[in-house]
Amino acid sequence: MEKTRKIILQEHEMPTHWYNIAADMPHKPLPPLHPATREPIGPEALSPLFPMELIKQEVSADQWIEIPEEVSDLYTLWRPTPLYRAYQLEKALDTPARIYYKYEGVSPSGSHKPNTAVAQAYYNKQEGIKKITTETGAGQWGSALSFACKHFGIDCEVYMVKISYQQKPYRKLMMNTWGAQVIASPSEKTEAGRKILAAQPDSPGSLGIAISEAVEQAATHEDTKYSLGSVLNHVLMHQTIIGQEAIRQMEKAGDLPDVVVAPFGGGSNFAGIAFPFLHLNLTQGKNIRCIASEPSSCPKLTKGVFRYDFGDTVGMTPLLPMYTLGHNFVPAPIHAGGLRYHGAGVLVSQLLKDKLMEARAHHQLECFEAGILFARTEGIIPAPEANHAIATVVAEAKRAKEEGTRKTILFNLCGHGNFDMAAYEDYLSGKLQEHELTEEEIQSSLATLDTPMIE
Ligand SMILES: Cc1ncc(COP(=O)(O)O)c(C=O)c1O
Repeated sequence: MEKTRKIILQEHEMPTHWYNIAADMPHKPLPPLHPATREPIGPEALSPLFPMELIKQEVSADQWIEIPEEVSDLYTLWRPTPLYRAYQLEKALDTPARIYYKYEGVSPSGSHKPNTAVAQAYYNKQEGIKKITTETGAGQWGSALSFACKHFGIDCEVYMVKISYQQKPYRKLMMNTWGAQVIASPSEKTEAGRKILAAQPDSPGSLGIAISEAVEQAATHEDTKYSLGSVLNHVLMHQTIIGQEAIRQMEKAGDLPDVVVAPFGGGSNFAGIAFPFLHLNLTQGKNIRCIASEPSSCPKLTKGVFRYDFGDTVGMTPLLPMYTLGHNFVPAPIHAGGLRYHGAGVLVSQLLKDKLMEARAHHQLECFEAGILFARTEGIIPAPEANHAIATVVAEAKRAKEEGTRKTILFNLCGHGNFDMAAYEDYLSGKLQEHELTEEEIQSSLATLDTPMIE
């Protein structure tokens, strides 16, 4: 029988709405708290940072939100994205499991990030915003937003985590090519950056620090707003186009996943692929396991605590109920820059608390081993972040072999690693380090928190 390796959709089959899981969750997320008063805040408190339409989406209880025509139109540059059956990987693993992957690396900047970047730039443009600031870890988010801002004629200022700025010069140049200004963070440009540098002049930076810098710039400039590439509800929602497409593609393949896997930084690509499948669990009684894969060196889902914490390091953002390692936690400089974040989005945190999803942690070497196996079988070189999902998939496929079960696994190959060759070079030359985080280190970071506990 002929093998169908690639399952594609036509443009007219592209979803017309984003899915808002908040409408279906049995326990709604707790409200954000004001960083100073620690009282619950309403949507208006977010207005210095975000345009009104995105704030409405952030607190919306509607199950579906229509994708504006201009956004859909730009999506068609790379969407619908392909879904592949990983026959060669299955063969190499000698597993009875069927493995599929949704490939988001076909976007202009090479990952899932433009799905929300385009939407956010569009709403900012609609409300007359001239400039957007943001942070970037791996450089994937910064490049996605640079591309989107250029399309809508908005200036873009990116605070790039210093270690990534040094490791990934070509990511910076990509952002420059799309007209963005890129600043290594921590920087002397902001109060927040200067404070960190005074305490630790050789700080490698972290997403939490870069967020503080970008937020400060937006909060202190009238025509400037801030944009976040993950964590927030509206960002996670914009990514749900991925899973909705995947459901249609799996239907075409005549299959439905038993397990859905995605790497986890702040939760956006996990939400993107998993939330539409969780919708089937929550509304149609399906029982699809959704697993988030994180680094052992930044294990907020598997070893963090569920409590209120700041989204940034300096403590400028509202307090959010999340799984966290503490906002002062600076993760080891692993190559998966996009996963070096101390906290998890509110929606995903509540879902994990309610045991509606699962999480796994993997060491850096195990992830690269899995990523190399994938590259050598399926051809695409994955982003280091995506390697975490592949490590979970390999473990699940091996388990299927041991148990003799024929389960179907789907994962989000959320980006390619074509600009991450320095990381692959380190792995191939044996220079890549394991970063084992000790229980003591986690506890000492959590001990610095004085934010409200959750019962
Ligand atoms: C390629 C890639 N995958 C995954 C992530 C993780 O982020 P999130 O969990 O927010 O999707 C990032 C973040 O920068 C990324 O660049």
